[in-house]
Amino acid sequence: MPLPNQIKTPTFVQVFQWVTDPMGFLEKVGQQHPDIFSSAVTGMNSVYVQHPAAIQELFTNPKKKFVLVPNQIVQAIIGDYGLPMLVGEAHRRQRQLLMPALHGDRMRSYGQLIVDLTEQVMSQLPLNQPFTARAVGQEISLQVMLQVVFGLYEGERYQQLKDLIGLMCAPLESPLHSSFLFLPFLQKDLGAWSPWGKYVRVRQQIDELLYAEIAERRAQPDPNRTDVLSLLLEATDQEGEHMANIEIRDQLFTLLFGGHETTATTIAWGLYWAHHVPEAGEKVRKELDSFGASTDFISIYRLPYLTAFCNETLRIYPAAFISTPRVLLEPVELLGHKLETGTRVLSSVYLTHHREDLYPQPKQFRPERFLERQFSPYEYLPFGGGERRCIGEALSLFETKLVLATILSRYELKLIDDQPELPASRGATTAPANGVKMVLTGRRVSQDRTYARTV
Ligand code: HEM
Repeated sequence: MPLPNQIKTPTFVQVFQWVTDPMGFLEKVGQQHPDIFSSAVTGMNSVYVQHPAAIQELFTNPKKKFVLVPNQIVQAIIGDYGLPMLVGEAHRRQRQLLMPALHGDRMRSYGQLIVDLTEQVMSQLPLNQPFTARAVGQEISLQVMLQVVFGLYEGERYQQLKDLIGLMCAPLESPLHSSFLFLPFLQKDLGAWSPWGKYVRVRQQIDELLYAEIAERRAQPDPNRTDVLSLLLEATDQEGEHMANIEIRDQLFTLLFGGHETTATTIAWGLYWAHHVPEAGEKVRKELDSFGASTDFISIYRLPYLTAFCNETLRIYPAAFISTPRVLLEPVELLGHKLETGTRVLSSVYLTHHREDLYPQPKQFRPERFLERQFSPYEYLPFGGGERRCIGEALSLFETKLVLATILSRYELKLIDDQPELPASRGATTAPANGVKMVLTGRRVSQDRTYARTV
């Protein structure tokens, strides 16, 4: 049975467009087919849905009509046992196991660390010298993830891990280099200088460090630790078996990567919008100023304008612009199109976020839209939905808000280039093409609950 609204352009042309300009590709296709289309752009022919009714069906699947299909792009990074690769009971159990480390009191306990790291990274920036907001976001979010995953972010092993993860992410900076994640035939180790060869060697060094950490922790268990690695080491399955080293390694890898890249991107976009649309940035600062120099991190997290600002940041250029693919277990009708068992279906998050009928003037950055109305989980979905909804959502929002609140209330920054910054492909996600180039022009200081400019 033909798939709905199949894109006729040759697949290699689509792949090229996807790798070089994913949003441009989606926008062109979305103009022709605003609700649903089919394409083989990510390796296998799949149906992409952007109409909220179809997304609701995809995410809520009351009769378990949709399940996850293993994804080669994600697998190339996280291996076979990371959360996005697990299905059924194994998936449910791992989610349950990981949840406490990423939510509630544990999450709140990272507040001071996030603010201190932000202050540490920002205070090292020289005045009036260019830096990229993305590098700042990455430095902070990687250290936060090391703390969440291992309970530590200092010491030789963590420094090595930090450097190697940076190296592993480096090829993703270039859309063309990151294309090896999409194209299995490029995944050939042709020596240390070939893109895949380099990637494999760095991954191996990271593995060695992770396995060394796992072995040490197994040898000296500490029941008082609450980090993710400790939770995984203690966990047993229904037969009372502990997790194998490779399963633990894949889960650690998943969190280190899934957790820091996307959050770093969101922080960078937040800094961009606060300065590219200065009225919006000023409103965030005004709200923070009226709040004073508080360390009540949960109240900062709940500030209405800051929340609307972060929502709009994740709407306009969501770091993950498509959801993980699901596959049909039985025939389904979506928006009047009959789909057969085995069909792959994804939600195109970016296109849903740019629907005129939901978000008038969608290209305009306007946080107020989130204060004026509430959007359903099928209209606003930067973290996906259903049983696959991002497990790090609460932590990444907490982190993004605290980092932005700290920087915007304490520092004066300027964009170097006021030309619009556009998103570029980074493998399975997108990020600002030029990293958001900025300079630090001064520090703001608190005076009687308001902030005055210095320097
Ligand atoms: C702004 C930051 C982030 C964004 C935009 C984001 C987005 C997403 C999206 C769209 C999905 C797929 C959901 C679906 O298909 O329905 C996902 C899954 C996932 N995310 Fe995130 N994410 C972010 C931060 C994080 C963080 C901080 C962590 C870890 C602490 C994390 C870990 C994961 C994991 C493990 C999954 C797979 C869930 C599963 O298969 O059950 N993410 N994320």
